[in-house]
Amino acid sequence: MYKVHPVAPTRLPELLKKMPKAELHIHIEGSLEPELIFELSKKNNIAIPYKSVDELRAAYAFTNLQSFLDIYYAGASVLITEDDFYAMAYAYFLKAAKDHVVHAELFFDPQTHTVRGVPMAYVMGGLSRAAKDAEKNLGITSCLILCFLRHLSEEDAFKTLEEALPYREHFIGVGLDSSEVGHPPEKFAKVFAKCKTLGLKLVAHAGEEGPPAYIWSALDTLGVARIDHGVQSIKDPELLKRLAAERIPLTVCPLSNLKLKVFSSLAEHNIAKLLEQGLCVTINSDDPAYFGGYIYENFLQTFSALGLGAGEAYAFAHNSFEASFMSVAEKEKCFHALKVCFESFVENDA
Ligand code: ADE
Ligand code: ZN
Repeated sequence: MYKVHPVAPTRLPELLKKMPKAELHIHIEGSLEPELIFELSKKNNIAIPYKSVDELRAAYAFTNLQSFLDIYYAGASVLITEDDFYAMAYAYFLKAAKDHVVHAELFFDPQTHTVRGVPMAYVMGGLSRAAKDAEKNLGITSCLILCFLRHLSEEDAFKTLEEALPYREHFIGVGLDSSEVGHPPEKFAKVFAKCKTLGLKLVAHAGEEGPPAYIWSALDTLGVARIDHGVQSIKDPELLKRLAAERIPLTVCPLSNLKLKVFSSLAEHNIAKLLEQGLCVTINSDDPAYFGGYIYENFLQTFSALGLGAGEAYAFAHNSFEASFMSVAEKEKCFHALKVCFESFVENDA
């Protein structure tokens, strides 16, 4: 195990920024900034019920997950052409590069678009072209994870899967998002079973607002490899034991949890406790345009609120690569780059 040297508190922000990291929980529609929403709404002649960027931003005062989702789906309604999807995703990659994200696994919600008559081809085409350009121009590798909206039916999920299969080479897995409570994972057991036979990776949001039972169900009924959020696992000691023993990753999003009132302050966030208990926890941004910050801001504010240091920074970044869907060889390269970065922060007294 690599021995992490302490880093002076004054240098911690620089370390958090510069250390290579993977982002595993980002809804690409949640990276749509108000400025781009306004630009696209004008270009595409789609009315939105806000007069200005400032008025839209002022509406980002959420009380829970549903209050956010209502605005998030309204924001996504301005995406019409393939170039719109490209512009949104490339803008994210530019921000991610500044935060030293070297690998990103992006969620996207095709049902939000196909229901409005936007062809699946535009969604897949724009996102995958942005991913290709991000690798070429910015050196960020990435993959796409298609999320089924859990407030819709399993039948709709099957239909969406069928529409997506002609673009199979563009996405590596499927996930489950949207309104959690009242829509347990088992509602999607059959479509996840089908996805498994197709060789797709499986993940699901569970235990964001919903109970630990939803996490058990995501693991045992859907067979997911990762849990998105999962912070409610803290209520179930048996579940914590299982998550730790099997190193099942949790993709945690601290600023999202704060803005959606899962925790009343970051100082009360349980991410450090989960890490201490041996879970493979990672830090991610979820919907950064709505929650006040991209991945670095999530690291910075969490570390400040919880008094964390270089040891935890290394663990979170290491976990992000371990939990990713990269190949073993790609992971090894990232682990090496992480060590090189930490070595460059060791104070030299000579
Ligand atoms: N879709 C976008 N962000 C989400 C979140 N935090 N939880 C569930 N669904 C989402
Ligand atoms: Zn999410």
